[in-house]
Amino acid sequence: MQKFLIVGGNRLKGTIRASGSKNAALPVLAACILNASKNTIHEVPRLKDVAVMKDVLTYLGAKVVCEGSTFIVDSSNIQSVEISEDLMRRMRASNLVLGSMLGRFGRVKISYPGGCQIGSRPMNLHFKGMQAMGAVIKEKYGYISAQAEKLTGADIHLDLPSVGATENLMMAAVLACGITTIRNAAKEPEMVDLQNFLNKMGARVKGAGTDTIKIEGVRRSDLKPAVHTIIPDRIEAGTHLVAAAITGGEVTVTNVIPEHMEPLLAKMREAGIRILAGDDFVRVQGSDRIRAVDIKTMPYPGFPTDMQPQMMALLSLAEGTSIITETVFENRFKHVGELRRMGADIKVEGQSAIVKGVKKLSGAYLEATDLRAGAALVLASLAAENGTILEDVAHIDRGYERLETKYNALGARIVRVHD
Ligand code: EPZ
Repeated sequence: MQKFLIVGGNRLKGTIRASGSKNAALPVLAACILNASKNTIHEVPRLKDVAVMKDVLTYLGAKVVCEGSTFIVDSSNIQSVEISEDLMRRMRASNLVLGSMLGRFGRVKISYPGGCQIGSRPMNLHFKGMQAMGAVIKEKYGYISAQAEKLTGADIHLDLPSVGATENLMMAAVLACGITTIRNAAKEPEMVDLQNFLNKMGARVKGAGTDTIKIEGVRRSDLKPAVHTIIPDRIEAGTHLVAAAITGGEVTVTNVIPEHMEPLLAKMREAGIRILAGDDFVRVQGSDRIRAVDIKTMPYPGFPTDMQPQMMALLSLAEGTSIITETVFENRFKHVGELRRMGADIKVEGQSAIVKGVKKLSGAYLEATDLRAGAALVLASLAAENGTILEDVAHIDRGYERLETKYNALGARIVRVHD
């Protein structure tokens, strides 16, 4: 198990570059299956979750060559239509191959990716949409098999704007007969990035970023190799802004699309953080006063659930009491217990956390329970007096490339220890 030893108290200062978006790269890599061609994807973040997706594609028979942050994915020789259980267990987002496998081969078998620390994470909306397109879905002994002679376009209304279901159905519809309409679709920027990649390979997708996406099915022969650059990671960039704010530092994050970060920036400004946004950078200008604010996580363009733990760390040190309500996942407060060990004053009541700001946090012996909770504990430790030992940082590596190296370059004191 790997851990971080963190000594807080330094104000972070300097410039940090955000990597490509994990949550855009994963569906785009899965979409490479569709065109049975060699695709070139730039700005792919070098993360554990991306490494798992690479392993999944390789297991299926694709050839994946990585040159720095450029992935060359040749999907022409994919043979298998079944993904092993251990691969599926390593990352939930492996389920993103469902749509492109069903679209290209008409059948796929995966093991149920299961829930993780933040919630049960069912796939009922994925299956309902595929069944509407003519797929037969069977679930047995933890396996899911999907089969369809030929997918036909359908009018699908999602019960809720699920990111993964929107992505899987977009991919499944690319080679279906006729037009598929996805209503109440997720509107995250990652949907637009996937649409752009699909259209570069010859698909006909429009409306991504709105709540109605239309996909006109095309023939296999219409699809060709595609070259694409992944959009910047708005959640990684947001995490760095909070690192600057919580330490009272001054940090510029480059390689960002500020518009994608607007829901977070608005809330940070409301909390009194001075923020300057340029065309492709955002800067936090050191501020010692943080005001309490209320947060309610919502699908985009609401406040992102993936920034909820990080903001809770920040608001633990605010003047006043903040109410943070998590509406997207049913179990995304695992970081509360760990923050309380540092002296935070937080009470959970149902889906809300009441965060009463305290003057200071103290370092403690902590455990990262999931990706964003782990990131939040790093941020809290950077602001805490004395040292912190943070266990199980492998969770953090799933979504952040060498976080300790990036923050140490800004003045943090983090050492990674391998047990
Ligand atoms: C994506 O997960 C992201 N992961 C998550 O980021 C993010 O938190 C989430 O979207 C919400 O924005 C990737 O993109 C790889 P959902 P996903 O389907 O697709 C329920 C991170 O930290 N639901 O929008 O799994 C579900 O249980 C990760 O980077 C159903 O009920 O999210 C959840 O409560 C964490 N039935 C809610 O919808 C379904 O069929 C949102 O899930 C599908 C989802």
